[in-house]
Amino acid sequence: MTSRNADQWQTPPQLPPTHYVSGNVYTDPGIFDDERTKIFGRLWRFACHESELAAQGDFRTLDHVGMPLIVIRGPDRIVRTFVNTCSHRGAKIIHEISGNAARLTCFYHLWSYDALGACIDIPRPEGYAATGLRMDDCGLRAVRTETKFGLIFINMDDKAPSLEDFLAGSLDRFEDLLGGGELEVFHFNRTRIDANWKAWMETNVDAYHTLMHVALRRTQIDKGRTVDIFENGHIGGGGQKMNYDNYKGWNARTDSLALPGAPANDMRTTHLFPNAMVLSRGTVIRIDTIIPIDQRHTLIEFRGLGLKGDSSETRRTRMQHHNQFWGPFGRNIPEDAFAAEACEKSFGGGAAQYQIIARDENRTAQDDIGLRTFYAAWSACVGRPPQAPSNR
Ligand code: FES
Ligand SMILES: [Fe+2]
Repeated sequence: MTSRNADQWQTPPQLPPTHYVSGNVYTDPGIFDDERTKIFGRLWRFACHESELAAQGDFRTLDHVGMPLIVIRGPDRIVRTFVNTCSHRGAKIIHEISGNAARLTCFYHLWSYDALGACIDIPRPEGYAATGLRMDDCGLRAVRTETKFGLIFINMDDKAPSLEDFLAGSLDRFEDLLGGGELEVFHFNRTRIDANWKAWMETNVDAYHTLMHVALRRTQIDKGRTVDIFENGHIGGGGQKMNYDNYKGWNARTDSLALPGAPANDMRTTHLFPNAMVLSRGTVIRIDTIIPIDQRHTLIEFRGLGLKGDSSETRRTRMQHHNQFWGPFGRNIPEDAFAAEACEKSFGGGAAQYQIIARDENRTAQDDIGLRTFYAAWSACVGRPPQAPSNR
């Protein structure tokens, strides 16, 4: 056989249904609505690191699939999250990405809220005397907020199981790294890509694509790599070792810079379903958050973490380690963005019908079990089979 005619090309791959995915998962307009309500409306999602909210009144705003949220540390030092929307006429209240505020005042008619979400000031309140509007009934919508190893998560669903239950032990491999020393975020940037959010997730979960990255081909030793599967669709990777001085101009990372709990040449990952990746390279940790804007556009937040007590020289080296792979001009991120957008270009226009996720290497090496795990969890949430998601 050589090329395929139109009928052959539209025929699903002759594989078990779990081993391929229809391009409709990226393109069917009804699917994005299902994802918004049945995945992002119900599951825990990483928001930020606690070091980003060090002082009382520190806040970060985030977009949660179109829903504006604000995470803020209160006067009692508890971190809370609210929908960042004014109870008066519905304007988004705070527009900065981060800052510090004693009170949250809406620009539109100057209603104000405190860091506990209570409405504390309504200008000219006498205008409401006749209708009986009470300030006590105008608080912000609170959003569940819990923390694990310094990572702050939010959940829109008041009835969802606890964060601990949801994580199902998937972050435990990071216990020493995230909890061994006081960490802080030293790098934050955002990238917008023209691709469905799952196309970026795939670059994080697909171990086979290390072939694309020249730097990884030279430096990553996959022998010993294992893939671990957790409940709720989380995927762990470990066992890889790095040989950084195999790449021209780079140096081996010394254990004097290693984060507590791992040697400098260590590498481990956890992809948290649905949209966060925690990845450590011995001396530095990256967390990325994949935020769908709409079906064909995605915002990715990148964070780099190092030890809070770093000397300026150590920090400079750690930043260099982060940027070699993960900075905006690093060896991995632009290449991954190119890959995600390349898939979007095909699936978005109907030029591709299916993608194959059929590598089976007994949960080692470059097994596609991670991708199959993601799509099984995705299917359980949205109630659609990934190989034929438009038929329900
Ligand atoms: S909409 Fe916020 S004060 Fe009116
Ligand atoms: Fe990649």
